[in-house]
Amino acid sequence: MKVPFLDLQLHHAPLMGEFTAAIEEVILSGAFAGGAHVAQFEEDFASYCGCRHAIGLGSGTEALWLTLLALGVGPGDEVITTPNTFMATAEAITYCGAKPTFVDVDAATHTMNPEELENAITPRTKAIIPVHIFGQPADMDPIQEVARKHGLFVIADACQAHGAQYKEQKAAIFADASCYSFYPGKNIGAFGEAGAVVTDRPELQEKIRTLRDHGQVRKYHHAMVGWNCRMDGIQAAVLRIKLRHLDSANLLRRAHAAHYDQALRDIVGIVTPVEAAYARHVYHVYAIRLHPRDEVVGILKKNGIECGIHYPVPVHLQEAYGSLGYEPGAFPVAEQCAREFISLPMFPELTKEQLEQVVQSLKMALESLGDQPTEPQKNNRSSLPASARQV
Ligand SMILES: Cc1ncc(COP(=O)(O)O)c(C=O)c1O
Repeated sequence: MKVPFLDLQLHHAPLMGEFTAAIEEVILSGAFAGGAHVAQFEEDFASYCGCRHAIGLGSGTEALWLTLLALGVGPGDEVITTPNTFMATAEAITYCGAKPTFVDVDAATHTMNPEELENAITPRTKAIIPVHIFGQPADMDPIQEVARKHGLFVIADACQAHGAQYKEQKAAIFADASCYSFYPGKNIGAFGEAGAVVTDRPELQEKIRTLRDHGQVRKYHHAMVGWNCRMDGIQAAVLRIKLRHLDSANLLRRAHAAHYDQALRDIVGIVTPVEAAYARHVYHVYAIRLHPRDEVVGILKKNGIECGIHYPVPVHLQEAYGSLGYEPGAFPVAEQCAREFISLPMFPELTKEQLEQVVQSLKMALESLGDQPTEPQKNNRSSLPASARQV
């Protein structure tokens, strides 16, 4: 039996009738770019996130980029994020003409380490982008405290964290703006590319709306230079349907994560993810750490288990950012993550048999490597006290 990393067909099959009807409605209405379906989705998504405004866009990358632009980030500015993220977080900063700078991640949660934040602030720093990586929110209270002290904006990269909670509230409310991706494989994914910004700030949403539509304030009257970043009507119609199923899908992901946790926690050589006490993780990705990672991934693949690696190169060491001048060793926790993470199959429709097959194959892979696997080096730089972790 093969276990895919993700199976979207299974997720879509029971909803096919609803999708077809919704897409037909968009075709009949002719509202393909922006329009009524996008406005309806914006209303639904803002309310789901507990925020006043949502702005539908073409991707999560555009959400980050337009938010930074709307906040006035530009050449000469610096924006702090973490290297343990997808390239888009830093690209959005670069595309505003600003410079990405980094702080390392916490050793337990792999999200921004708030204790390192203040050291990275310079007179040029304008904003902070914590990343809710894999579906777990960063520790937003201390991050916001530092931001307030230094007059900085906080923009959450929530592209992997739809429905995640921080201190029992939706994580979106703990930032000036939160940016979401609806790339097809996300916890809520479109039938193509889509994204959104969620915010409580009226002037910010107004500016992002204007920027996403060529800076138009009235048809063919352009108050600023913008771009075309509108969400498609068809994507909005599909996302409205999927949003109704997001909470139940996230519950299943959490149950699968609990199964993996239970089965893998005590295996020497495997470090399972930690859900912080402040967080309700939505497990977009369930990543364990182990060494030697690539050998284990190879063995699992031979046994029909499809895994992912998120991400093999931390952003500060990407070739594209060679000009920033970082050397290996600059951010040891993020670099260790890049060497050791394996993302196990994770999607709501996974069966108990499939979960067990992944667990058994992992055990066999470790056994077949004999003495080779050593327990990944424990990094004790977590800012979380042991009592604050739900292991
Ligand atoms: C953490 C993170 N940031 C940003 C993005 C960019 O989103 P999109 O692919 O919708 O542009 C992604 C998407 O994979 C992501 O995972």
